Amino acid sequence: MGAEARDLQDEHQKYIEDLGDFTRTHSCGELDVSHIGLEVRLEGWVQFRRDHGGLIFVDLRDRAGLTQAVFSPEEAEEEHRRAGILRAEYVIALRGLVRARPEGMTNPALSTGEIEVLVREWKLLNTSKTPPFPIEDRIDPGESLRLQYRYLDLRRPRMAANLVLRHRVAQSVRRYLDEAGFLEIETPFLTRSTPEGARDFLVPSRVNRGDFYALPQSPQIFKQLLMISGLERYFQIVRCFRDEDLRSDRQPEFTQIDIEMSFADEAQVMRLAEGMVARVLKDVRGKDLALPLPRVSYAQAMADYGSDKPDTRFGLLLKDVTDIVRASSFRLFSAASVVKGLRVPGGENLTRKEIDDFTEFVKIYGAQGLAWVKLRQAGASGSDGQWQSPITKFFSADEKSALQDRLELQSGDIAFFQAGEPDMVNAALGNLRIKLGEHLGLIDKNALNLLWVTDFPLFEYDGEEKRYVACHHPFTSPAPGSDLRQPDRTFARAYDMVLNGTELGGGSIRNHRAAMQREMFDALGFSREAAEEQFGFLMQALEMGAPPHGGIAFGLDRLVMLLAGADSIRDVIAFPKTQKATCLLTGAPAGVEGGQLRELGIKLLEAREKTGTL
Ligand code: AMO
Repeated sequence: MGAEARDLQDEHQKYIEDLGDFTRTHSCGELDVSHIGLEVRLEGWVQFRRDHGGLIFVDLRDRAGLTQAVFSPEEAEEEHRRAGILRAEYVIALRGLVRARPEGMTNPALSTGEIEVLVREWKLLNTSKTPPFPIEDRIDPGESLRLQYRYLDLRRPRMAANLVLRHRVAQSVRRYLDEAGFLEIETPFLTRSTPEGARDFLVPSRVNRGDFYALPQSPQIFKQLLMISGLERYFQIVRCFRDEDLRSDRQPEFTQIDIEMSFADEAQVMRLAEGMVARVLKDVRGKDLALPLPRVSYAQAMADYGSDKPDTRFGLLLKDVTDIVRASSFRLFSAASVVKGLRVPGGENLTRKEIDDFTEFVKIYGAQGLAWVKLRQAGASGSDGQWQSPITKFFSADEKSALQDRLELQSGDIAFFQAGEPDMVNAALGNLRIKLGEHLGLIDKNALNLLWVTDFPLFEYDGEEKRYVACHHPFTSPAPGSDLRQPDRTFARAYDMVLNGTELGGGSIRNHRAAMQREMFDALGFSREAAEEQFGFLMQALEMGAPPHGGIAFGLDRLVMLLAGADSIRDVIAFPKTQKATCLLTGAPAGVEGGQLRELGIKLLEAREKTGTL
């Protein structure tokens, strides 16, 4: 802020008044022609001041909207003269008369655009320094500045609307679950590690030096204990903490709608959960969701979409062509575990540059390259529906026609192929599919495509740890008839709800019998001692009349993000962290006083540079 602006602000400080017995009668978003002739009192922030034809106009903003206030020397000379000091973000209260805006001066973009308030009296409640960015939706000051001055960012109507939406969703959830007999019960934050697959945030104990609490990755074990306690139906809108790589839909602390119910099987949990989402959509969007939601098995989702969170808003399904190319002379295809193709109708016009970009893109997922075939329009380059592709020569006429049939390739189309291990092929083509959907404008941004993914494997192989890990979590019950000695052929009683290609929620039926839970720990490679040390309390509880139970947890941030049409969960969290898990507003994480560390019995391996810290 320039010295001049600061001087002005300092000078204006002396005009600040107490509110007295002033009570606002309306918000800045609700006045319309029906209020004409009424004297109203408003409070808010100065969005904008303009002096025009002897009048001063101020757009007054509060959470609900904007109202134009007019200061006229004829109406109130002194009030008009004083209004000359008003600057952006000054806080004022005013009393005035609602009147129609003159002909040609209405603003149809604003709910209050047909009226204005002629000011009779006003008070300055506070001044403001010039904000680092204008408080307007259409201006993007960049995320760093927005996060540093989050309190100003949240004054912007779009951000405030996101938080209002979040509130509505949370209230709708609470009403629904309360009506269904669920109890809202809090569980501890200072606890032991819960295995949800991420790293824990640790909290050192001062009282028990050398020991650490872990912040919960989810309340999983506690909600199961509440079932064993006989509380039958639990929910909590609860913060969870996971130290993992951050993305646009991941935060180190995020909020779950966490649910658990006793005497329930998959069908009951899923019915309850989809009913909740339907209720939320009805309450906040007025939208009727057709229930039950469609279901797809994990295997089918992987086959068709290369993903366990399929975005079904558009086609471009993957097709397995391994059998067709098995005997071809193209080694890369004939020797691969899996070869899959993806047809893009009318895609022959994709340029070399675009194809090169897609090739670079799939490399992120471990692909070496990207094979493609264009089927030329009849007549184009003198051909008749002919293949144009760097790999044409490797395929016989029969193989080509079988590929065309399998992919339903028509002239004018392009098809992409990926060969290799199934995980890589699915990741590369599945993500390419999404990219193509966006690139070609195939995605209906207004659609809300919800579905269940079921029949997950119980285990997945962790190449880094060289062992099987739980696909969902270790408390998930295997499907009936499972043989845990065959980990790659075992299915879980687990289910995920997916919305527009994002995993919105996931849950499972749990192992309520201790013997089965013990078998799970064995299969996961826990020694009996390690299982006892980490989960002994749960095993003990399971042996004391644990009822059958299961549940689910939804990502509240993700749900609100998708409902708000936001690109990142950071836009629906009041005070989020950056991609590097820092808070630009408070400067967290930060060093601590040496004394604090000593009290905790902690010594850092490397001294920090900052003064005042170890
Ligand atoms: P899960 O780990 O699948 O299940 O988490 C449930 C849902 O939480 C959301 N979510 C996240 N949102 C934002 N940032 C993150 N870092 C993040 N991690 C997860 C997702 C996800 O679907 N205890 C089990 C649930 C159960 O079995 O009942 C659990 O936590 O939307």
